[in-house]
Amino acid sequence: MGLGRFLHTHGEREDAGGTIERARAYEVMAAVWFAGRRRRVFTRLAALADARSGDTVLDVGCGTGYLTSLLAARVGPEGRATGLDPSGPMIDYARRRAPGNCSYVLGEAQDLPFGDMAFDRVVSSLAVHHIPVDARDAAMREMFRVLRPGGRLLIADFRPPTGRTGAHLTSALAGPAMARNPIGRLRGLITDAGFDVRDEGDQRPLLHYVRATRPRSSTPAPPLARDAAE
Ligand SMILES: C[S@@+](CC[C@H](N)C(=O)[O-])C[C@H]1O[C@@H](n2cnc3c(N)ncnc32)[C@H](O)[C@@H]1O
Repeated sequence: MGLGRFLHTHGEREDAGGTIERARAYEVMAAVWFAGRRRRVFTRLAALADARSGDTVLDVGCGTGYLTSLLAARVGPEGRATGLDPSGPMIDYARRRAPGNCSYVLGEAQDLPFGDMAFDRVVSSLAVHHIPVDARDAAMREMFRVLRPGGRLLIADFRPPTGRTGAHLTSALAGPAMARNPIGRLRGLITDAGFDVRDEGDQRPLLHYVRATRPRSSTPAPPLARDAAE
């Protein structure tokens, strides 16, 4: 069993998504994966999120709250950073280390427990590949709904290696959901939800990110046909 399979609850189906239930082990694994560069990479992500003093920021799939804390530092005492994750152990771990302007909420990206236009910024790192494939469009629409018009979105996710050796290694260590993560579809998911993409790029060594804006004159995208039929 690879380390990723030990941590993830994906089960056998790589499109099923899954939570992470071992917070301490996740912290160790993240330190190993980023090989001493985790702080630098996530400080850069916090800068890419463009959060400013006084902003309200939501971190979707926050895990242990590593990025949420960096965002809390950027928005300062007048602002607020909120992390959301469906894993109780991850939320407990994050809450124990939360700075004063930071709070954590149990929940899923595809059903966000927040009001419309509640945030100035929405970010998510390494979490989209954990959302079940058939819930990813709903998740992106939820991020659109809770972001204020003119607000900014940053989504970063795992960029699988393209070489055969790297792909085999990733599959063995982290499982097929990461090894075959369809990172090229991220931009389409975001535009389909109604966002205007600003730019995208790689954040080495492991991530690809897309930055987008909710248009100023926008209402949330209509429900998906299958949701409307229920
Ligand atoms: C690889 S961790 C990333 C944690 C953190 N964002 C980071 O960059 O270190 C992925 C997180 O996504 C969470 N997750 C799983 N399913 C989710 C869902 N449907 N909605 C939001 N988060 C989810 C997992 O529980 C896990 O904490």
